Amino acid sequence: MLEKSIDVLSPFRLFTLDIILRAGFGLDAQVQTDPDPEMVEKALTVLETPVYVRAMTMFPFYKQVKEFFDVDLSQHSPYFIALSKSILEKRKISSSGRRDLFQLMLEARDETAEGTQKLTDEEIVAQSVLFLIAGSETSGTTMTFFAFYLAHHPDVQEKLLCEIDHAIRSRGDAPIGEFVQSLQYLDRVVSEGLRHSSVAFGNVRQCMETCVINGVEFPEGVSVNIPAYAIHRDPDFWPEVILTVPLSVLELNL
Ligand code: HEM
Repeated sequence: MLEKSIDVLSPFRLFTLDIILRAGFGLDAQVQTDPDPEMVEKALTVLETPVYVRAMTMFPFYKQVKEFFDVDLSQHSPYFIALSKSILEKRKISSSGRRDLFQLMLEARDETAEGTQKLTDEEIVAQSVLFLIAGSETSGTTMTFFAFYLAHHPDVQEKLLCEIDHAIRSRGDAPIGEFVQSLQYLDRVVSEGLRHSSVAFGNVRQCMETCVINGVEFPEGVSVNIPAYAIHRDPDFWPEVILTVPLSVLELNL
């Protein structure tokens, strides 16, 4: 039994925010070493939906209230929109010298398809706000789950380290993406961690036209929730040991 509890969520969130700002936007914001306190505070609380908004989502009239009062499930949208706009203006003047996410969007902005601009400034800002919000919280929280599991399964951690050490020694000139894809045990650990504790515990789709699937009618306009959390723990799909002991799937050689 582990005795001491430490906060890994905060450094992991900052780490992932740092990576997204660097890889996606070519921005050296020094989030981990010399952070802008306002940016950090806003990034760390961006998905903290106020309790009254969470309560409202349970009622059928939520959709109308949301539209009428322009309710936002995430906080600080104006701050992140302003941040993205300022990055866009800077990047229009000078490139980061890398073909990062922002560069790809800027290239699409300069292209047209059938006379229409592929991406407008507004769409670039919207996409980058989404990257900032969707990327850092999800990845930081996921890494926190993994740290927890690895702390409880030192054998898995040891095997993972061995794989990574060995792969680094024999990496050669392989590009980083290809290199990471080649780490098969890491892939299994990540997949199992995401199965057990996914921050994205459900997906939603809207039904565009009435249809019947497996005898169930879905009327046009309804939202269909796909419960990933329940599917990931459905005894019809998973042996019991996997459902009760996280990471035990790694021992089963499935
Ligand atoms: C463990 C980490 C992550 C998890 C579990 C996760 C999960 C998800 C899920 C479930 C969706 C919705 C898919 C759908 O309903 O179609 C989604 C969408 C999205 N995610 Fe992630 N995500 C992660 C990391 C990231 C990162 C690092 C970025 C970008 C830097 C990112 C950017 C996006 C974007 C842009 C969308 C919207 C895609 C669209 O509009 O179709 N996510 N993510």
